[in-house]
Amino acid sequence: MTETAPAAAIVCPNFINGVWVETRSGRRLERRNPADLSDLVGHAPLSTRGEVQEAIQSAQRAFPAWRSEPPPRRGRILANAARRLEEQREDVARLVCREEGKTLAEARGEVSRAINMLEYTAGEARRLKGETLPSELPSNFVYTFRQPLGVVGLITPWNFPVAVPVWKLAPALVCGNTVVWKPSELTPFSSRRVTEILVEAGLPAGVLNMVNGLGEETGDELVENPAVVALSFTGSNAVGAAINARAARQLKKVQLEMGGKNPVVVLEDADLELAADNTVTGAFGSAGERCTATSRVIVVEQVADQFVEMVSSRASKLRMGNPLEPETQVAPLVGREQFEKVIGYLEIGKREATLVCGGEPVPVVGEARGLFVRPTVFDRVPADSRLAQEEIFGPVLAIVRVRGFDEAMAAANSVRYGLTASIFTGDANRVFQAAERLECGMVHVNSPTIGGEAHVPFGGVKSTGFGQRECGSSAIEFYSELKVVYVDYTGRKREGNLY
Ligand code: UN1
Repeated sequence: MTETAPAAAIVCPNFINGVWVETRSGRRLERRNPADLSDLVGHAPLSTRGEVQEAIQSAQRAFPAWRSEPPPRRGRILANAARRLEEQREDVARLVCREEGKTLAEARGEVSRAINMLEYTAGEARRLKGETLPSELPSNFVYTFRQPLGVVGLITPWNFPVAVPVWKLAPALVCGNTVVWKPSELTPFSSRRVTEILVEAGLPAGVLNMVNGLGEETGDELVENPAVVALSFTGSNAVGAAINARAARQLKKVQLEMGGKNPVVVLEDADLELAADNTVTGAFGSAGERCTATSRVIVVEQVADQFVEMVSSRASKLRMGNPLEPETQVAPLVGREQFEKVIGYLEIGKREATLVCGGEPVPVVGEARGLFVRPTVFDRVPADSRLAQEEIFGPVLAIVRVRGFDEAMAAANSVRYGLTASIFTGDANRVFQAAERLECGMVHVNSPTIGGEAHVPFGGVKSTGFGQRECGSSAIEFYSELKVVYVDYTGRKREGNLY
């Protein structure tokens, strides 16, 4: 990916105040299909701060009317968008596949998840409820209700270019906020489709604005501009922490979803076939480029040799190739930078641990010259090594051997991240003990570390998550403010101790 001189047609404009506009910066970024670098997908504009400011002003102007719109009407727009996305599912999935590089099956799954989120949130429009509370005083009561925050800034990643934006946009909009969205510069075309669908579904001008560009410029303006009152970010820890540090100076409401180093814990009584299948799904699906990917196996010594063999034989049989082909199981990495980073970790792994399978890039797969890395398994990885501690975001699995349940829990918790964890065992007591002890936001029992449902809160602890969870009821809490109203219907002056 290189920066190129401006050309006549900018393929992916910004969307500001209800109008598609080309960036005035004259700068753009070339985007190539990661599975086939000869396939030029198009160019993403690199917008200026001034353009973000225009988008913010447009969102400010649209806010009073949008917040006054009855929530069920806002919900109906999301329901329309769900229908449109359903009709265009295959087309959008193919675009995600070409632009981001995930397999078509994975892209279809992602689009389905976005549809689920739109449907769920459309329903939530009718349940934006508060509560009534009794008062300590006679003929008094208290009630609460929710109000929108104002202009919110959304910063989204390339690895889920449809689902993650939708799971931020839908609750933000249904609560009555207006939005300025900065998608990843690696996936401008999927982002454009999401915007088009929401706009065709009936969003008024100015309610949703999308500005493409680099984080340090367009993203930074969202963080610094005082008119943006809340920020939701999904991406790396370094960027998330920096956003939060700066947003805190203005007391902005912030929600961060960041890295993971998710373990699968395999105990001696586990169904090893099931555990191996699900470990491979979690580790190598989406080429490991998801924050919920399985990147560590913590296995008890008794079954470790057998389990390593089962995982590596499955991993080495996985088919890489054109993500559009139905038989392809492992996609390429998204871009050159990510590819180089993963290759760097393969070298680190070879120094720190025992390479069992993979361990190298694959420059040509079939006809495609893409950014492929062979599914890689390292065994006997020390729990404190870089391979076991750092987020790689690639098809690399670290196996850590332990002596028993307590040691497994300690190893699982020995990282700075805490998004998801899986446990494989037939022992119900161990399941509940692990659910209690694992330091993470989501525990999966006898199932992969990946995935999540539209109506269920999503997020993690420690260095992974900050602020309220995404999705489910907690998303509504994040995108709205609670107001309390005390009502006295005695009609009399308050007497006595007024505390
Ligand atoms: C999933 O695996 O459930 O950026 C999706 C990410 C996450 C989405 C993960 N926010 O990878």
